[in-house]
Amino acid sequence: MIRFENVTKSYAGGAVKAVDDLSLEIDGGKVFGFLGPNGAGKTTTIKMMTGILNPDAGKIWLEGIDLDRDPIEAKRLFGFVPDTFEMFERLTGLEYLNFLADLYRVGNAERKAHMDKYLPLYELESAIGQQIRSFSHGMKQKLQIIGSLIHQPRIWILDEPMVGLDPASMHALKQEMREYCESGKTVFFSTHVLDVAERLCDEIGIIRKGKLIAQGEPEALMKTDRAETLEDLFLNLTEKEA
Ligand SMILES: Nc1ncnc2c1ncn2[C@@H]1O[C@H](COP(=O)(O)OP(=O)(O)OP(=O)(O)O)[C@@H](O)[C@H]1O
Ligand SMILES: [Mg+2]
Repeated sequence: MIRFENVTKSYAGGAVKAVDDLSLEIDGGKVFGFLGPNGAGKTTTIKMMTGILNPDAGKIWLEGIDLDRDPIEAKRLFGFVPDTFEMFERLTGLEYLNFLADLYRVGNAERKAHMDKYLPLYELESAIGQQIRSFSHGMKQKLQIIGSLIHQPRIWILDEPMVGLDPASMHALKQEMREYCESGKTVFFSTHVLDVAERLCDEIGIIRKGKLIAQGEPEALMKTDRAETLEDLFLNLTEKEA
């Protein structure tokens, strides 16, 4: 469960309002797709829900835990794949995964089972002993994805996770996202790939200029707007003048 209540964030001393009075509730057991044009406020929202940025106003709860009051407790609950690659480049892939497992206090048997499952799935077995600086963009992305799940978090947050993935890895990721929410966990991801969002998401939210302009099941939203596809709906909603 994720809850935002009247969350606002500005940059540059208030000159840029990146997120404007956002209220949003996402139940467990759902894949939630966060959509919006470039600069709409998706990454800013994600940075606030992961505690990287503090909101100027408003509150955020993860599984009922107030992120501002119990930040460490709240941070234990999620796994995060950012849209950047600020990784420890001199670590090997294996050292990186073990570092994360240590951080989240994951036992030896669980971390081994995790790697046995995910390294073949994302075809990283042969590279995992190499330093991260030798990895390609897609390989780094896959390592971040595997690392983000090492502690089997209740909430899985991903910022544009599909960028740079090859078709097999993209398929594996989509499947994992679907399966992940089955046990009541929540998946929250941002994307520009609307046909994937249409098929994958139980619910979507569309943000434009920092404001949430639509939220609901893709099918229902498309029907209300008489749109044939999520792309049509997105273009209808985001091209309207504020
Ligand atoms: N560090 C920053 N300093 C100043 N302005 C920023 C900063 N980060 C983001 N912004 C501004 O905040 C607004 C929202 O940016 P944000 O990165 O949240 O958008 P986004 O929806 O993730 O876009 P994209 O689809 O391009 O990733 C934009 O106007 C952007 O220029
Ligand atoms: Mg972004």
